[in-house]
Amino acid sequence: MAVLPVPENISEEYYQISEAILSSFPKYRPPLDFFVFKDTIGQLVSYSRKGDRLSNEQVEELRSLCLEGDLYVSRKDHSVYAEHIVKQLDLVLVDQNLKEAEVADICLKGLEGRLEEFFSQPVKSVFDSLYVDSMVVLEYIWTDIHRLRLFFRRLRRAEHSLARQSINSFIVGLWLFSSPKNEELRRKDFDQAGQALLCKDVGMAKVPPFILSKTSPLKPEEREKILTHPLAGYKIMHKLDQTFDRMRQACLEHHERLDGSGYPQRTKDISSFGRLTAVADAFSAIVQKRPYAEAREPEEAARELSQDRTRFDPAFTGPLLAALVSESFGKLK
Ligand SMILES: [Fe+2]
Repeated sequence: MAVLPVPENISEEYYQISEAILSSFPKYRPPLDFFVFKDTIGQLVSYSRKGDRLSNEQVEELRSLCLEGDLYVSRKDHSVYAEHIVKQLDLVLVDQNLKEAEVADICLKGLEGRLEEFFSQPVKSVFDSLYVDSMVVLEYIWTDIHRLRLFFRRLRRAEHSLARQSINSFIVGLWLFSSPKNEELRRKDFDQAGQALLCKDVGMAKVPPFILSKTSPLKPEEREKILTHPLAGYKIMHKLDQTFDRMRQACLEHHERLDGSGYPQRTKDISSFGRLTAVADAFSAIVQKRPYAEAREPEEAARELSQDRTRFDPAFTGPLLAALVSESFGKLK
C-alpha cells in the first residue's frame, strides 16, 4: 500500500492512518483522536475526539479523508493504537507509519498473548490463531532479517513464564538459524524453524503449575512429569497436524545433550536443529528470572554455554557469544 507524501510541516508526532487500520476500529466510536490536514491553512486540525459518536456522514467522510491521505492520528495515542494492533497483528504489515521498534514491541506482545492462550489451552482453534500471528511476525522478520536485532534487544528477562521463554527461544533460535552464513535460507525452512521454536515446550502445559514454581527439590513423580514434556509436546503437535521434521526435532531434542546426559532419550544422536534448539532453549532460560535463580546477563549466559562444550554444540554457542561480545545486537542492558 502506498503511503502518500506527508506535508513537510507536520511533525513526527502525527502519522497518517491507513484505510485497513481505520476500518478495523469501531466505526461509530473510534477509540482515538483524529486530525485532518487542511490545505487552505497548511495545518492539521482536530476532526474528532476519542469516544465521540460519529454520524453516518462523518464515517464516510473519515474514510474518504483517509483514502486521500489527509487523516492523521497522534503519537500520544500510540498505546491505544498498539493495544488495538496487538489483537490484529496482520495490521503491522500494512502500517508504514509505525517505527520499527514499535512494530517489534507490538509483534512480541501479540505473540506472547497468543502463546499464553495456546499453552493454557493447546487445541486446534487456539493454535490456529497463534499460527496466523506467528506467520505475520515471520513475514515481518523475513522482509529484513536484520530486524532480528530489534527483537533480540527485547528478550524477555523479567519473571519466567513458559510463553516468555518460548519467545526468547524463538528470537535466539531464529537468529542462529538465519545468521549470515546461512545464505541458502529458504522461506519455508525459516517459517518452520520459527513455528518449531515457539511450540517446542507445549508439553509443559501438561505439567501442573505448582511443580513449575517449586523451589525445593522435586519428588520423583514430579520430576517424571517434567522429563516427559518433550514427548507430550510432540504428541500435542502431532494431533494438530504439525509433524514436520523441525517440529519433531525441536520438541523431542531440546533437552538432549551432546554427551548423552540430557532427556528424554539420553541420546547423543541429535539432529542439527535439535542442537540449535537446545542452545536457544538453555540460553533463554538462563537470561530469565526463575523461581530458583536470578536472571543472568545474555553475554554471561552465552559464555557459560560455550564453555560447556561436552553438552552444547560450539557451532551455535560460538557465534552467539561472539555476537554478544561484539554487541552486534546493540547494548542489551
Ligand atoms: Fe523444555
